[in-house]
Amino acid sequence: MSTRAPLEAAILISGRGSNLMAIARECLAGHIAARVAVVISDRADAPGLAGARELGLETAVLKSAESAGGAALEVSLAAVLEAHGCDVIALAGFMRILSGPFVARYVGRMFNIHPSLLPGYRGLHTHRRVLEAHDTVHGASVHFVTAELDAGPVVLQSRVAVMPGDTEATLSARVQATEHIIYPRVLGWFAERRLVWRDGAAWLDGRRLDTPIVEDFRATPRS
Ligand code: GRF
Repeated sequence: MSTRAPLEAAILISGRGSNLMAIARECLAGHIAARVAVVISDRADAPGLAGARELGLETAVLKSAESAGGAALEVSLAAVLEAHGCDVIALAGFMRILSGPFVARYVGRMFNIHPSLLPGYRGLHTHRRVLEAHDTVHGASVHFVTAELDAGPVVLQSRVAVMPGDTEATLSARVQATEHIIYPRVLGWFAERRLVWRDGAAWLDGRRLDTPIVEDFRATPRS
């Protein structure tokens, strides 16, 4: 059994916070060797803040976030992260683009979850774009954050089927259910030091991940 202290984690949100809740529950259950030190939102009205408080987690709302430009927001964000001694940062539906210098400060210990099979469909409205393209497979990706948006090394991807008759709502619900499994898993690996950042790449159990690990949630065909 490890005698290392659990990591101090910050989770950054802007909205509903379902990934935040999934991660926090796994930390509280002792399944991830990390403690959620603070949940940070750029919006005071983010519904996820209430869920975090119900779990007894500390929360912070970035000062003047609505009016402040990116630089002021990042000063406020860095102050909260440093005040809580955060070792790892999980972006979980945080709808702000962080600057290159800010990312450089935390690179190797900041993660994001993106609702697509990266490198496909970076950016917004991924479910809609997948439906418009008539793709048959979709999913989510957990990746290290680098300066280029949605382009950092991917650690783990979930794959789900796009079903006939899917709408954005049904498809996003199917993808999100898998996000709540794969994001805590990656953070668990990181907390156990099985997953590390080295030479600009993700390494798991001493092996460089040149391609992501894939978890396939598509139903196994009946025989
Ligand atoms: C998720 O779909 C995630 O992939 C994307 O933002 C959404 C956040 O959802 N980055 P929630 O706030 O965790 O429910």
